[in-house]
Parts: sequence; C-alpha cells; structure tokens
Amino acid sequence: MKRFVCQVQELPIDKPRCFRVEGVDVFVVRTAQGVFALQNRCGHMNAPLHEGDYTDGLVVCGLHGAGFRITDGGVEWGAVLPPPISEYSTSENERLRRFGKLIESIETHPVHAYLVTVMDEQVMIEME
Ligand code: FES
Repeated sequence: MKRFVCQVQELPIDKPRCFRVEGVDVFVVRTAQGVFALQNRCGHMNAPLHEGDYTDGLVVCGLHGAGFRITDGGVEWGAVLPPPISEYSTSENERLRRFGKLIESIETHPVHAYLVTVMDEQVMIEME
C-alpha cells in the first residue's frame, strides 16, 4: 500500500532526512537520479542512518561506519569497530574478551529499501 512521505520540495538534493511514516522511521534522500528511501535503522546495531553521512549513493552509519547503498539497501562494507572495542577480544580480562568477541560477532545486514514513487510532487513509498 502506498504511503505519503513528504513533498519533493522538502528534500534538498543530497541532503537526507528522516520521516516517520505509519510509525516507522524512514531515511529519504533525493539525488540527481531520483528519490530513494530506506529503513532508518542501521543493519548492524540499529543506529539511525539519517545521523550518518551521505555521499555518492551511499549512507555511512555514524556509529561504526557501515556503508549502505541507497538504491537497494545493500551492504557496501560492514561495521568497523574502533579501538578500544576492536582490542577487547584479545584482552587479558576475560569479561572484556567475552564482550569483544560478542560484539565482533554482530554482522552487518542489508537494510530494507522501499519502492518510491513521486506523483504530483508527492513522495510515496510502498509499505505492507
Ligand atoms: S550501528 Fe551502524 S555501523 Fe554499527
């Protein structure tokens, strides 16, 4: 079912925004190629994607840097854990080591990409 997101004029080119649609946060960006919409939750640990960086068709999560394609939500690269978290799995401290191994085991999954249509200057997405 198509749901209204916003007016096209609310989307400056290459400046993503988050809109709440039917109780769901949706990442929306208008580019020279069109308007794209993704679930606004990172496929790694659910950080809001609109708080990250957008460039050249990719949104980079602001928390651990995973990159997602805006066209299909696919993972361009996975999360990169910064130090000291990246060093925990080799720590002498068992508790830190277990935490490090646990956090390193979290995979980065693709995010849902919505089918977008623009009609009469209105941006719509297909939702179930
Ligand atoms: S939450 Fe997005 S990369 Fe970790």
